[in-house]
Amino acid sequence: MDRILEPELMEEEEQGQAYAQADFSGPNIQFLHLFEEKFPGFSGNGRVLDLGCGPADILIRFARRYPDCQCVGIDGAEAMLAPGRRVIEEENLAHRISLHCQCLPLHDRKGSFQVILSNSLLHHLHRPNVLWQTISDCTVSGCAILVMDLFRPESKEAACNIVTTYAANEPKVLQTDFYNSLLAAFRVDEVRRQLQQSGLALHCEEVSDRHLAVWGTISI
Ligand SMILES: C[S@@+](CC[C@H](N)C(=O)[O-])C[C@H]1O[C@@H](n2cnc3c(N)ncnc32)[C@H](O)[C@@H]1O
Repeated sequence: MDRILEPELMEEEEQGQAYAQADFSGPNIQFLHLFEEKFPGFSGNGRVLDLGCGPADILIRFARRYPDCQCVGIDGAEAMLAPGRRVIEEENLAHRISLHCQCLPLHDRKGSFQVILSNSLLHHLHRPNVLWQTISDCTVSGCAILVMDLFRPESKEAACNIVTTYAANEPKVLQTDFYNSLLAAFRVDEVRRQLQQSGLALHCEEVSDRHLAVWGTISI
C-alpha cells in the first residue's frame, strides 16, 4: 500500500482538545523508557528539543524525569500547544519548558541542543527530509536523538484492525486521525533510506506492532 498524505498541521481546536484529553500514557511512557534504554549514560543536563511536540506530554514527562535539563517544544499548530501551556503553568514548569508555535524547518535554533526528541511528527510531513535536515542543523556533537512514529501497515484493512484494537473507545475524531496517520506513515525501509540520503548514521527498527524508532548519537 502506498502512502496517503494527511494535512501536516493539526490546527482544529476540536483535534487539539481531543488529542490532549486522550490517554497516550502507554506510548508516551514507552518513549521515555526507550530513551533510558538507548541512552543509559545521559547526564540529565543540557538543552532538549521536541519537534512537533503537540500538547507536550512527552516533554513534560521528560522534564520531570530529568530535573536538570531545559526543554524547548516546537509545533506549528497553536491548537495543539494550548493544552500543554496550561499544564506547564499549573505545574510551575515555565522556567524549564518553553513551547513555541513554529513550523519546521527551523532556521533560528542551529547547533544548540544536546537532546532531540520527536514523536509522531514524521508521518505528517509531506517532505520527510525536513525533519532530518532540522535534526542535522540543531544538534551539537554528542547529541542524543530519539524519533518514534507509527509505521504503515500492509493494507487499509490492517490499519482498521489496529484502530479497533487500540482506539475503539476513543472519540471518532481521534479514530479518524489515527487511521489517516497509519496510512500516511513510513515503513522502516523507507526511513532507513531517508537517513542514508540525509547522511545521518542513526538506527531504525520496529519497536512495537505499530511503532518504529530512530535513535543514535550524532558526532559532528
Ligand atoms: C500526532 S501529533 C504528535 C504530538 C506529540 N509529539 C505527541 O507525541 O503527542 C503531530 C504534531 O506535529 C505537528 N506538525 C506537523 N507538521 C509540522 C511542521 N511542519 N512543523 C511543526 N509542527 C508540525 C502537528 O501540528 C501536530 O501537533
